[in-house]
Amino acid sequence: MKELLNQIKSDATSALCSIDNMEQLENFRVKYLGKKGEITAVLKGLGSVSAEERPVIGQLANEIRFELENAITQKRDELKQTEMLKKLENEKIDVTMPSKKSEMGNKHPLTIVQNRLEEIFMGMGFSIADGPEVELDYYNFEALNIPKHHPARDTQDTFYISDDVVLRTQTSSVQARVMENTKPPIRVIAPGRVFRSDAVDATHSPVFHQMEGLVVDKGITMGDLKGTLEIALKKLYGDDIKLRLRPHHFPFTEPSAEVDISCFVCGGKGCSVCKKEGFIEILGAGMVHPKVLKNCGIDPEIYSGFAFGIGLERVVMRSYNIGDMRHLYENDLRFLKQF
Ligand code: PHE
Repeated sequence: MKELLNQIKSDATSALCSIDNMEQLENFRVKYLGKKGEITAVLKGLGSVSAEERPVIGQLANEIRFELENAITQKRDELKQTEMLKKLENEKIDVTMPSKKSEMGNKHPLTIVQNRLEEIFMGMGFSIADGPEVELDYYNFEALNIPKHHPARDTQDTFYISDDVVLRTQTSSVQARVMENTKPPIRVIAPGRVFRSDAVDATHSPVFHQMEGLVVDKGITMGDLKGTLEIALKKLYGDDIKLRLRPHHFPFTEPSAEVDISCFVCGGKGCSVCKKEGFIEILGAGMVHPKVLKNCGIDPEIYSGFAFGIGLERVVMRSYNIGDMRHLYENDLRFLKQF
């Protein structure tokens, strides 16, 4: 028995030296000190040892057990320490390393132009209104004096969601919503996305952007419309530009006009930007139709107003001399980084 115990002890001592992780250490503990471990087996077997040997063997076995327990505790501390050092080594941060370069983005040209126009109109006392892109047929058409079978609907190539719901074809839908909810005086702009079932080409996209303007108050005239647009467009393009109003028809304004500005590149002489015309069409506008005021609960006998709608893509393309509208949506960084 004594020899057996000494053998166990020397085996255990040498085995312990080669242990280098917690799992091995636990296996070691189970092998010698576990319920079915070798030392435990000796202690359990003391009954079969002669009475005089029993205390000696028992004491030796307990001593060895005690030594092994201590050795295990010590080994565990050592292993913990090395693990910690390893972890610290792996997680070391070299604060002197050069950092990863973070790419600075820049604004999309459409956003730049929209923000600029917002700034200009806010400076003139306008606030910004918003409306849904998925719109009721009522606000997009009906309230704006375009009933169900009006031919003006044909020109708008509408995406219908259902009989009553459309993807708005114009930001003019926000006009009706604002007038319904606000008592005059009203002075708002409403920039946003609009949708028409157009095939994509250099000057068309099924998704594009407009900015609506609406002013309603007592005594508003066509003069106010022209003056407001002139100030705003001069801020955008410079004091030298001239405005030209051409008679036009929109169902929701009367009278209506298309507004051109003298070409800001050639000053009216004719060039590639204005396609030799000297003038560039920039927006649609007019005096809010009395029927529209009435539809939205505003008395046309007391109030009058003007409205305009600017196609933002057109302004962007003309401002930066961009020949193809598709560049604006393709997200090609070589293009977008130029602004
Ligand atoms: N909504 C018109 C369009 O999309 C533009 C417009 C707005 C005209 C407001 C007059 C008044 O063509």
